[in-house]
Amino acid sequence: MKAVAVFPGTHEVRVIDEPQPQVIRGTEVLLRMREVGICGTDREVAAFEYGEPPPGEDHLIIGHEALAEVVAVGPEVTKLRPGDLVIPSVRRPCLHAECLACRSGRQDFCVTGDFRERGIKQTHGFLTESTVEDEANLTLVPPDLADVAVLTEPLTIAAKAMQQVKTLQQRLPWEPSRQRSVVLGAGPVGLLGAMTMVANNFETHVYSMESGDSDRADLVRSFGAGYICSQDCAPEDLGKRLGNIDLIYEAVGSSHLAFTALESLGPNGLFIFTGIPPLGGPSPLPADQLMRNIVLENQLIFGTVNASRSAYALALRLLGQCMALFPDSVRRIITAHRTIDEAPGMLRKRSGIKEVVRLS
Ligand code: BGC
Repeated sequence: MKAVAVFPGTHEVRVIDEPQPQVIRGTEVLLRMREVGICGTDREVAAFEYGEPPPGEDHLIIGHEALAEVVAVGPEVTKLRPGDLVIPSVRRPCLHAECLACRSGRQDFCVTGDFRERGIKQTHGFLTESTVEDEANLTLVPPDLADVAVLTEPLTIAAKAMQQVKTLQQRLPWEPSRQRSVVLGAGPVGLLGAMTMVANNFETHVYSMESGDSDRADLVRSFGAGYICSQDCAPEDLGKRLGNIDLIYEAVGSSHLAFTALESLGPNGLFIFTGIPPLGGPSPLPADQLMRNIVLENQLIFGTVNASRSAYALALRLLGQCMALFPDSVRRIITAHRTIDEAPGMLRKRSGIKEVVRLS
């Protein structure tokens, strides 16, 4: 069976031949992988800047954004049957008794950092023809979402963020009227975040570097969001240009851009970080002004990493909503389907928005 692996010792990224996996425990499911999306994290793992093989092994099978088909189930599997389509989640809990998050099935809030992530940290991933996974880590996909369901994992970021937005804004003793959001970045995470905002009735604007007449800007407008090219407006001026901003959703991974845009956030606003920047040197920021605003205007800033099982169910519901509202825009996020033999090249060089490896 073919799989794509990174070898940190020799800095190789290549297709390998692996033995076919077998169901061993009663709650396990044998999966045939259908599609695996490639994201920025995969490219960092393939550049040996991030990620880690399983203990004692020289390689890591990569891939964490997956759509799979159930081939066989163990005797204790209760909800899945051969032929079902499923999305496997990524993060597995740490083993420490004191980590209440992991003990509560919320490993996305793990406090020890000893969680594992399939395809990223200490556990093989999904860019392989077959794998085995526990039923508890699989979410059933409605068949009508099959052609876009590979977007579920990146959509869990926005699904979890939106759930937190709703909880956090209950601090306001009134029902907010139509709110305005700005999404920083028009990559897959930014576009899916912007679709989530539109589907939740936010007036939404995407701020990114592509020109206003680019395909990316056109895609943004196609689902009812506005587009602002970063050449035309400094990040700190977004509020002056648009009016009060209730929510800024960062999806660029640039700390300088993010903190500069924070100056634009309105009173009682939320700022959500989703990007993971490379570690660089210190960068000058208007810290006094930012701190004043945060205190005097009750602003909340939080980071969010996907995602618990519940976020996968939420993301699939959200994907269904987006497909009902703007199906062509959702489909346009997937810009290429390629073969497993092309995957090492895709990991080295980015092209388009979301590139997907089709395995079966
Ligand atoms: C994945 C997350 C993961 C994060 C950090 C992201 O690309 O979607 O599941 O927690 O990388 O490893």
